[in-house]
Amino acid sequence: MKVLTKFVSGLLALASLGSTAEVVKRAALTQVTNFGANTSGTKMYIYVPNNLATNPAVIVAVHYCTGTAQAYYSGTPYAQLAEQYGFIVIYPESPYSGTCWDVSSTAALTHNGGADSNSIANMVTYTISQYNADASRVFVTGSSSGAMMTNVLAATYPELFAAATVYSGVPAGCFYTGTVDGWNTTCAQGQSIHTQAEWAATALNMYPGYTGSRPRMLIFHGSADTTLYPQNFNETMKQWSGVFGYTYGSPQQTLAQTPSAAYTKYVYGPNLAGIYGTGIGHTVPVMGDQDLAWFGITGSSSPTTTTTANPTSTTLATSTTTTGSTGGCTAAHWAQCGGIGYTGCTTCASPYTCRVSNSYYSQCL
Ligand SMILES: *[C@@H]1O[C@H](CO)[C@@H](O)[C@H](O)[C@H]1NC(C)=O
Ligand SMILES: *[C@@H]1O[C@H](CO)[C@@H](O)[C@H](O)[C@H]1NC(C)=O
Ligand SMILES: *[C@@H]1O[C@H](CO)[C@@H](O)[C@H](O)[C@H]1NC(C)=O
Repeated sequence: MKVLTKFVSGLLALASLGSTAEVVKRAALTQVTNFGANTSGTKMYIYVPNNLATNPAVIVAVHYCTGTAQAYYSGTPYAQLAEQYGFIVIYPESPYSGTCWDVSSTAALTHNGGADSNSIANMVTYTISQYNADASRVFVTGSSSGAMMTNVLAATYPELFAAATVYSGVPAGCFYTGTVDGWNTTCAQGQSIHTQAEWAATALNMYPGYTGSRPRMLIFHGSADTTLYPQNFNETMKQWSGVFGYTYGSPQQTLAQTPSAAYTKYVYGPNLAGIYGTGIGHTVPVMGDQDLAWFGITGSSSPTTTTTANPTSTTLATSTTTTGSTGGCTAAHWAQCGGIGYTGCTTCASPYTCRVSNSYYSQCL
């Protein structure tokens, strides 16, 4: 009787899955061919663990040039970690010969522009609906060309991703050539040098008018990288520090020999950190434990959800420039103007308004 009840309720559970019934085999890298618009012909592979969580998190793992979904699946720890923690991994695959990503065309660098970045965004929304995944816990990571794409996705689809880790990339927009799947030697060689405000504007202009939350960024790079020169670490840190309103060059913490002997970790705040490897070349090894901690899947490297009431951060949404306030200071366009732990200026230079991105960060936009 008990068995029969279980069997019937099992059938009902299956039936209730309805149109979102699973279509792929568990615990196997599987291609998905119906994920939505795919103008650039990008391929989607997915890994759904046997141990799938309810409302699972999703990690998009983006391969390097010459790589494939299969190579990144077998060469990185994410699938094994998925079995341990119950999240889904999406492995997109580049459609181009040589399998670099298109991070150079105007379409690729534009929200809903129709290029690879758009296809990958469609893979994410497909996966959220198909597996009832947790839309607030979608993450992206990648190596080299995949790291470039990670920065591009963070800029073009900030609403989709909660956090990102970037292994040896370049700033979003740095590889612009105006052609599809182009190679920007100036950028690769670390000669595309801009101010923090310029890099921030490059990222923000990929989704004009967007004022919602943005993924927290963790940037890895090696000092001996001769493919994407180490200056790209500095430029990428400038870009995201500008977006989040941190002062580039003034991290809150500098941690020597972290997470291991060759590396130094620069913590700008809850939304940005860099890990720079001295003597490390283009292949910074993927550090699954660092990624999962940054994503908040494990550990405590995610922003502490201290729920200390912070009246300023909620009122800032509507605060505008106050004129004639004595002793007040003014935050510039793009600068931070509020958030938990922030002690700087809370009024924006005219005509900008202080807008809340998340509880840790408000910005003059
Ligand atoms: C996307 O394009 C690739 C390459 O043509 C193809 O293999 C894949 O099935 C397409 N997927 C969708 C959803 O159109
Ligand atoms: C690479 O980017 C730089 C800086 O934006 C630009 O001046 C240069 O023309 C680009 N290179 C190519 C090959 O398009
Ligand atoms: C780039 O960043 C690294 C690591 O923080 C630092 O050692 C180096 O001096 C920076 N380079 C420039 C030109 O600022």
